[in-house]
Amino acid sequence: MPSADSPTLAQPDTGIVGGNPAARTRCLKPLQYSGTLDHYEHMDLTPVSGREYKGLQVTDLLKADDQVMRDLAATISQRGVVFLRDQVVTPQEMKQFCLRLTDVAGCPESSGLHVHPLTEEGSELGDQVSVISSEKQKKGGGLTHQLSDVSRFASAGWHTDISFEPVPSDYAMLKIHTLPPTGGDTLWASGYEIYDKLSPSMRAYLETLTATHDARFFLEEAERLGNPIRKGIRGSPLNHGDQLQAVHPVIRTNPVTGWKSVYVNKGFTRRINGVTKDESDMLLHYLFNLVTQNHDAQVRFKWNKNDLAIWDNRSMFHCATYDYMEARTGDRVCSLGEAPYLDPASKSRREALAL
Ligand code: SIN
Repeated sequence: MPSADSPTLAQPDTGIVGGNPAARTRCLKPLQYSGTLDHYEHMDLTPVSGREYKGLQVTDLLKADDQVMRDLAATISQRGVVFLRDQVVTPQEMKQFCLRLTDVAGCPESSGLHVHPLTEEGSELGDQVSVISSEKQKKGGGLTHQLSDVSRFASAGWHTDISFEPVPSDYAMLKIHTLPPTGGDTLWASGYEIYDKLSPSMRAYLETLTATHDARFFLEEAERLGNPIRKGIRGSPLNHGDQLQAVHPVIRTNPVTGWKSVYVNKGFTRRINGVTKDESDMLLHYLFNLVTQNHDAQVRFKWNKNDLAIWDNRSMFHCATYDYMEARTGDRVCSLGEAPYLDPASKSRREALAL
């Protein structure tokens, strides 16, 4: 179960919960947006999250200076998810871009791009690109296989990427290049807003707790698909082996915004630690329901060919929609941030924005 890489509860001098000295953020105060993206046409998709830009290409951003990239990182972390339409960008350029984004946002020196434990050795696009493919899923891949056996609720797929790693993802980007004529939308939900829905006493209680995240179902999947699991370093020296489990604070601080977010998800969080199983089940059920049943915390995106989404996995949940028969394929790159921590002095989004 929890290993040496697991967080400890409150660190005496700071009151910080979790974190790991080997994977600390370099972002010591929240990034302040300076306005360099204002001249691009954009639209906020809901009051809480999602922003769509028009006329902004990832390849132009790759040539932009660090201030523009920092403003983009601040925008993604504040709005949770940013959408860029009709991108002309290769998977290699996506990798370069994601590395730059995580760097300007202050990822630890030891964090790079994630290698998914199920990525096949020698895969066509390289270790750090996950091909999101409906055809692969039909053969029994992905969360869908696991979930289809136990649930007929489309909402069963809500998750945040790779929270089973001691050092999980900060940002992820997904470009969908092959689409069904209709369907296949993706939904995101804000962990900041879920935190804001909690009462002060529930917040205070949850802030004392950690949870165990577990993806050992990938071991069965690897066996079923006949691919060995990737046991080597998966983008951070702390992410390795076949344990596929990690312990993280239930509430975490996003260093880029300084805001608190709920950090348990239906896909990977199995147990709240230090309470009875019944108490853990009840708390997780409540927190998962806050995500799935609050459409005011959600934003739904309808893809066109070559659209791209970039989101902050520390503070957003997402869920694909499997309502189509035709092929749907895209490329996903995930960068790794800091080992999750809670700074009790940080604020909620609504408190910080005085909403
Ligand atoms: C993912 O879960 O990262 C993929 C989402 C999607 O296929 O829409």
